Amino acid sequence: MGDGEEQRSAARTSGPADDHGQPARERGKTVHGELANAGHRVLAPDDAEVEAYLEVALDAPAPIRSHLDVPGGGVPRGEPSASEPDTVVVLDFGSQLAQLIARRVRELHVYSELLPYDTPYAELERRRARAIILSGGPTSVYDEGAPRPDPAIWNGRIPVLGICYGAQLMALELGGDVLPAARREYGPATVTITADDRLFAGLERDQPVWMSHGDSITRLPAGFTATAQTPSTPFAGLADSARGLYGIQFHPEVVHTPRGRDVLRNFVLGIAGARPTWTPANFIESTVNEIRSRVDAHARASGGDGKVICALSGGVDSAVAAALVHRAVGDRLTCVYVDNGLMRKRESDLLRVTFEQSLGMNLVMVDARERFLARLAGVTDPETKRKIIGDAFIRVFEEEAAKIGRIDFLTQGTLYPDVIESTAPETRAAQKIKTHHNVGGLPKDLRFTLIEPLRYLFKDEVRLVGLELGLPDAMVYRQPFPGPGLAIRIIGEVTAERLDTLREADWIVIDEIKAAGLYRSLWQSFAILTPLRSVGVMGDGRTYANVCAIRAVTSDDGMTADWAKLPYDVLGKISSRIVNEVPGVNRVVYDISSKPPATIEWE
Ligand code: XMP
Repeated sequence: MGDGEEQRSAARTSGPADDHGQPARERGKTVHGELANAGHRVLAPDDAEVEAYLEVALDAPAPIRSHLDVPGGGVPRGEPSASEPDTVVVLDFGSQLAQLIARRVRELHVYSELLPYDTPYAELERRRARAIILSGGPTSVYDEGAPRPDPAIWNGRIPVLGICYGAQLMALELGGDVLPAARREYGPATVTITADDRLFAGLERDQPVWMSHGDSITRLPAGFTATAQTPSTPFAGLADSARGLYGIQFHPEVVHTPRGRDVLRNFVLGIAGARPTWTPANFIESTVNEIRSRVDAHARASGGDGKVICALSGGVDSAVAAALVHRAVGDRLTCVYVDNGLMRKRESDLLRVTFEQSLGMNLVMVDARERFLARLAGVTDPETKRKIIGDAFIRVFEEEAAKIGRIDFLTQGTLYPDVIESTAPETRAAQKIKTHHNVGGLPKDLRFTLIEPLRYLFKDEVRLVGLELGLPDAMVYRQPFPGPGLAIRIIGEVTAERLDTLREADWIVIDEIKAAGLYRSLWQSFAILTPLRSVGVMGDGRTYANVCAIRAVTSDDGMTADWAKLPYDVLGKISSRIVNEVPGVNRVVYDISSKPPATIEWE
C-alpha cells in the first residue's frame, strides 16, 4: 500500500528537518516559536470532530489500546497465521522521520510499526518481528540520557538496520568508537559503496544520499566491515552480515536519497526475508474476519445480537471504517448520519447513494437541519457555534441510538498516527486535542466497546482500502472538512439563506479546482461568506452585495499551511462564475495568508 504523491510530499517537507537541529524552524515549534500545535483547533483526521463529540459525550477516557496485537492476528497471539502479516519494527529514537520509515516499509507491502526505542526484546519477539530498524534521533550517543535500546537486539536472531543515530548506537554498543565529526555533514552528499554488501545489491558505486549528523563512527566493532564511505566519514556503512547487523549513516527514507527505497527493499525483503503481503485486499480480508469473530463471540457470550453503530461524518475515515464493518457484520451495523444542514452541496446525497444504494447498508439519515439552524439563530461567536453544533450532534445521535435498541459496539475511524506510542515529543503532543469539545454527556448506560478497524493504517492506506472496497473517488479523496462545517465559514450569523449562498459559491470553487486538476494537490480549498458588503455594477444597475473570499492552502497536516499559488486563470474563472451565478455576491477576493499567523478556517 502507499500513495506515492502523499509520501513524496511528506518527505519533501520532512527531509531537511531531521536530526541534529538544522531544520528551517526549530523542532516542534512554529516559525513564531510557539508549540506547533498551539492554537490549532483540531487535528487532521477527517472525523476527529465526530469522534471527539462521542468520546467527550461518553465521558470516556482515551481508549486503552493493546499494543500486543498486529493486524490479522488477534490478541493474544498464538502460532503464526497466514493472515498475519510479517512485521518490521521501527524503534523510534525521536527522529521526525521515524514514521516515514514505517511508511516506506509499508510501500514495500510489508507491515511496519513504530515502537518506543526501549521496547523490551521479549516484546519484539512476541510480535514476531522479522526485522528491526533503528531510526535516527536528535541526540548524540554521548548525551546524558541518550536513548538506548534493549541490548538483546544485537544477539543476531532478528536482523537490525541502524539509520544515522541508530548506526552510531550499533557501533558504540558493540565496541566501536563514535566521535564528534570535525565537520558536520548536513544535506546532500555522495556515498561510495566500498564492499559487495547485500544491503547495496543492485546499486551503483556512487550514490547521492541525504545526510544529517554531527557524530561519526571512527572505529568499527569486532566482526564488522566497512561497506560505504563519504569524503568525511570512513564508515558511512557498516555490516556484520553473519549476525545480520547493518548500519548506514545516511537516510534511506527521504526522497533526497533516490535509491533509498532499494536499500530498504534489500534489507526488508532480501536480508530479512519478509513476505510482501501487506496489501489492501489482504488487509480487508483479515480485518473483516477479525471483526466478525469478535462481534460473534461477544454476541454468543452476552446473548445479544452484536449490534454495531457507526456515526458517519462524511469524511473518508468513518466511511472506510463503516464499509469494512459492514462487510463483516452486514445488517447488524447501523450507520447514523446527522444531516446538520452545514454540509457542502450534494455531500449528503453522495453519502446516501454510496451507503444505502450501492453498499446496501442500514443507514439512518437524520434530517436535523431545522434543529441546528434554530439553535444557531442569532449566534455569531465562533466558539459558541462549535459548542452548539457539538451538543446538538450528541443529542440527535443519542435519540437515534436509543431507537435502535441495545448496541454493543461503536465503530470509529481512528488512524495509526493517533495510536502510536512515540518517544518523539512532537508525536506525543500530537495526540488528538479534544478538550475544547465542551459538549454535554450521553446517559451513562449508553456504553459501547470500540471497533477501530483503521488503527493500523496511515491515511494514504485508508484511501487505498476505501478504493478497494468500492467507495467513490469523491469520498476517498475528499479534502478535510471541519465538523462544524459551513457554519464556521459564514462570518456572523448562520441562516438558511446564507448557507445556500455559501454552498453555491463553494461548489463553484471545488468544481473549477477539480476541472483544473488541482484538487488533490491542495490540502483544502473552499469559499467563505463574509458579512462585508460592497458596491458593484451589473447590467444597468448598481448592486450592493456580499464579498466572498476564496481560501486554498497546501499543507501536510493542517498544523502549518501555505496559501496556494493558484493560476490566475483558475482564480479568474472562479470569480466570474461566482459573481454571475450566485445571487447575493458581487465581489470575490483571494486569501493570501499562510498559517501561522492566520488559521486555515476564518472562524
Ligand atoms: P485551523 O483553522 O485551526 O484548522 O488552521 C486546522 C484544520 O482543522 C480543521 N478545523 C476543524 N476541524 N472541527 C473540526 O473537525 C473544528 O472545529 C475545526 N476547526 C478547524 C480545519 O478545517 C483545518 O483542516
